[in-house]
Amino acid sequence: MSSGSGGRREWEWSMAAPVEAGDAPPDRRSSATPSFNLKQLLALRSPSSASKATTTDTSGHLVVDVVHPTATDDGGSSHDEPEDFICLPAVHFVLAFDDLTYSVKRRRMSLFRCRSRDVGSIDDAPTAGAEPARTRALLDGISGQARDGEILAVLGASGAGKSTLIDALADRIQRDSLRGAVTLNGEALDGGRLLKVISAYVMQDDLLYPMLTVAETLMYSAEFRLPRSLSASKKRSRVQALIDQLGLRAAANTIIGDEGRRGVSGGERRRVSIGIDIIHDPIILFLDEPTSGLDSTSAFMVVKVLQRIAQSGSVVIMSIHQPSYRILGLLDRLLFLSRGRTVYYGPPAGLPLFFSEFGHPIPDGENPAEFALDTIRELEAAPGADGTRELVEFSKSWQDKPLSRTISAASTGPDHNKPSLSLKEAIGLSIARGKLVSGSTSPGGGAPTKVATYANPWWVEVWVLTRRAFTNTRRTPELFLIRLGTVTVTAFILATVFWRLDNTPKGVNERFGFFAIGMATMFYTSADALPVFLIERYIFLRETAHNAYRRSSYTLSNAIVAFPPLVLLSLAFTAITFFAVGLAGGAGGFVFFVLIVLASFWAGSGFVTFLSGVVPHVIIGYTVVVAVLAYFLLFSGFFVTRDRIPGYWIWFHYLSLIKYPYQAVMQNEFGADPGKCFMRGVQMFDGTPMGKLPEATKVNVLNAMSRSMRVDFNSSSCITTGPDILARQAVMDLGKWACLWVTVAWGFLFRVLFYLTLLLGSRNRRR
Ligand SMILES: Nc1ncnc2c1ncn2[C@@H]1O[C@H](COP(=O)(O)OP(=O)(O)OP(=O)(O)O)[C@@H](O)[C@H]1O
Ligand SMILES: [Mg+2]
Repeated sequence: MSSGSGGRREWEWSMAAPVEAGDAPPDRRSSATPSFNLKQLLALRSPSSASKATTTDTSGHLVVDVVHPTATDDGGSSHDEPEDFICLPAVHFVLAFDDLTYSVKRRRMSLFRCRSRDVGSIDDAPTAGAEPARTRALLDGISGQARDGEILAVLGASGAGKSTLIDALADRIQRDSLRGAVTLNGEALDGGRLLKVISAYVMQDDLLYPMLTVAETLMYSAEFRLPRSLSASKKRSRVQALIDQLGLRAAANTIIGDEGRRGVSGGERRRVSIGIDIIHDPIILFLDEPTSGLDSTSAFMVVKVLQRIAQSGSVVIMSIHQPSYRILGLLDRLLFLSRGRTVYYGPPAGLPLFFSEFGHPIPDGENPAEFALDTIRELEAAPGADGTRELVEFSKSWQDKPLSRTISAASTGPDHNKPSLSLKEAIGLSIARGKLVSGSTSPGGGAPTKVATYANPWWVEVWVLTRRAFTNTRRTPELFLIRLGTVTVTAFILATVFWRLDNTPKGVNERFGFFAIGMATMFYTSADALPVFLIERYIFLRETAHNAYRRSSYTLSNAIVAFPPLVLLSLAFTAITFFAVGLAGGAGGFVFFVLIVLASFWAGSGFVTFLSGVVPHVIIGYTVVVAVLAYFLLFSGFFVTRDRIPGYWIWFHYLSLIKYPYQAVMQNEFGADPGKCFMRGVQMFDGTPMGKLPEATKVNVLNAMSRSMRVDFNSSSCITTGPDILARQAVMDLGKWACLWVTVAWGFLFRVLFYLTLLLGSRNRRR
C-alpha cells in the first residue's frame, strides 16, 4: 500500500468518522419528528444527492463527492490533501433484487393427501408416483433495491420472511434453491466471494467473548479486519472513533459479560455486535433485527448509527419489528412482507397515501408503520380467503402508478439499476476513499484494482487470535485450575495405590495396570477440550462468514493456545507419580515419561477438538468420546495382547491412540535395564496353587525341576527379565521413540482433520 493511498485513507476516515451522539447531520433525516407532507417531500433532495454534491472548482476540475454530511471536527485533514478528491466521480452502489423466490420442500408424513391448512402459497409436487412433497414459498417474487446513503428496512409480522429475505440478499441461501436475481450495480454476484469481502452481516444474536471488554472486543476486530499496513495507533483511533459513534464511551472498559457475570447492558452489547462488523466500514451492511430487545432510546441510537454508516457511502439493509415514530424518520425505504410476499415497497412518506388509496386511511397521529403492520395482521387473520392477496395485488399496481413513483423519487431519488461506474470501478474508488479498508490492495497508489480476500497475512491472524484466546484464558483461570486439580488428584490416587511397586511378578502386573490406567487418564481428562470449540463455534462462524480470518489460522492458534497448559499438566502428573510408583530409568526415564504424557495429552486434545468440530452438541460429544476411548483402551494391548487380538480387529489396535503411549511407557520401564530381574527362583510359583506351599518345599520343587530339566537354576536365579516381559506382552513392534512420534503425529493428524471439518462444516448457508 503506497503512502499516498494511506494518506487518502486517513482523510476519508476523518470524513466517515463519527459525529458525537446527538449531533445532527445536516440533512432532512436529522429531524427527530418526521413529516410526511408530500409537498415538502417533493422539495427535498435525495439523501445521496445531499451527501454528494457535484460542482466545479476554480481550476475547472470537476469536483465530486466532497460534501459529506458526517464530516467531523477533525475533518480538517481534508484540507491537507485537497488533490485527493478532485476528479473522482461519485461512487454509487445499488443492490437490486428482482423476483426473489425461495421455497422449501416439506415431505409429508402421511401417504394420504389431506388438504393443507398452510396459509403460505403451497403447490403440490407434480410428480406422479413419487412420495408426495409440498413446497412452501418463504419468499415469493420479492423485488426492490437498496442504495448507498439509504437504509432499506424490511418489516413484517413474525414469520413474514424478513430474516429469509436478508439471508437471500446476503448470499446465505444456496444459489440453486433461490430463484430471481440479486445484482450489485447491475452485475450478478456470482460465487459470493466479492459480496463476502465487501459486506458484513450482523446477526440477531450477540455472539461475543464474555470476558473481553468492549474496547478489547472492538480492538481485536480492528486487528482482524484492518490491514497490517495500518499502524497500531491508527487502528486504536479507529476503535476510539467507533466507540464514540456507537455511544459506548462509558462502557468501553466494562466486560461484555454473560448470564453468570454481569457486564454491559443488552443495548450496549447490541451496539458492540454491530461495531465489530462495521469496523472496516463495509460497503453493504445486513442486519437482522438490530433493535430487537432494546428500549426505544437504545433502538433509536442504533438506527441513528446505521444512518451515519449509510451516509458514509454504505448500503444498509435491515429487518425491524415495529419501528417507533422516531426510527421511522431515519428509514429511507420500507419493504413490508406478509407470508413472503411484498405488501408495500416504498418510502415511509408513501404509506399514508398508499393506505388511503387502499381504503384503510391512517388515522391522524398514528404511527404509519404500526398501523400498516396491524392492518396486515388483521388481513392475514381474516377467515376464509387469503386476506392479504388483495393488498399484494394492490401493492403491485401501486408500484406502477406515477404518483407512487413521484413520492419515491422525492424521498429517495429515482430508482436506477445501473449506476455509471462498473462494479469493479466503484469498489476500487470506494476503497481509494477509505471504504473497505480491510481488503484493499493498491499497487502504484492508484485506485485499488484487487480486493484481497483477507485483510491480513495468516501469521498476523494467528498472532491476534492467540493473544485473544490467552486474554480469555487469563480471565478464566478457574478452568485451567480445575483441570490441573483433576490431573493432580488422579496422579495422587495412582501414586498412593501403586506406591513403590517392587520387582516381583505382582509388581509387574501392577505396573501394567498403572500404565494402562495412567495413559487412559491422559485421554479422558482431555475431554474437557470438547466444549471449548462448541462454545466458540458460533463466534467462529460469525467471524469467518465475512473473512475476518482464515480457518487455518484459527486451527493453528487453537493448537498453540491448547499446548502450554498441557506441559504443566504433564509435569504435574509425572512429578507426582514417577518416583512414588518407583518407575525405572532415572533422569532419562523421567524426561521420556514427561514427553510421552505430554504427547498423550496432545493427541487426546487433538482427538477431542476434532470431535468437537464434527458433533454439534456437548452431550453427544462426551458420549462419543467416552465410547471411543473405551474401545481404544480395549484394543491398546493391555487387556488383550496384540498377538491375541482377532485378525479382523487388528486394524483397531493400530488405530488405538492408547496403544502407542502404553507401549512406550512399557518399554521405558522394562527396557531401561535389560539385566534387571522381575522374577527370581521360587517367585515363579506366585499366583499358582504351589504359591501357598512352605518356602522350603518350594525350594525343593525348584531344585527337582532344575535337575530334571538339566538347567542350572536355584532360588536366586533370575527367571524373567524386562525384555522377556516386553516380548510376552507383545509390545515390541515399535520402539519407544517411534511410539512417541506416532502419538505426536496423531495429535497433528487430528488437528488437520479438525481444520477439514471447519472447511466443510461451516458453510453456514440455508439450503
Ligand atoms: N427450513 C424451513 N422449512 C419450513 N419453513 C421454514 C423454514 N425456514 C423458515 N421457515 C418459515 O419461514 C417463515 C419465515 O421465516 P423468517 O425467519 O424469515 O421469519 P421472520 O420474518 O424473520 O420472523 P421473526 O420476526 O420472528 O424473526 C417462518 O414462518 C418460518 O417458520
Ligand atoms: Mg427473523
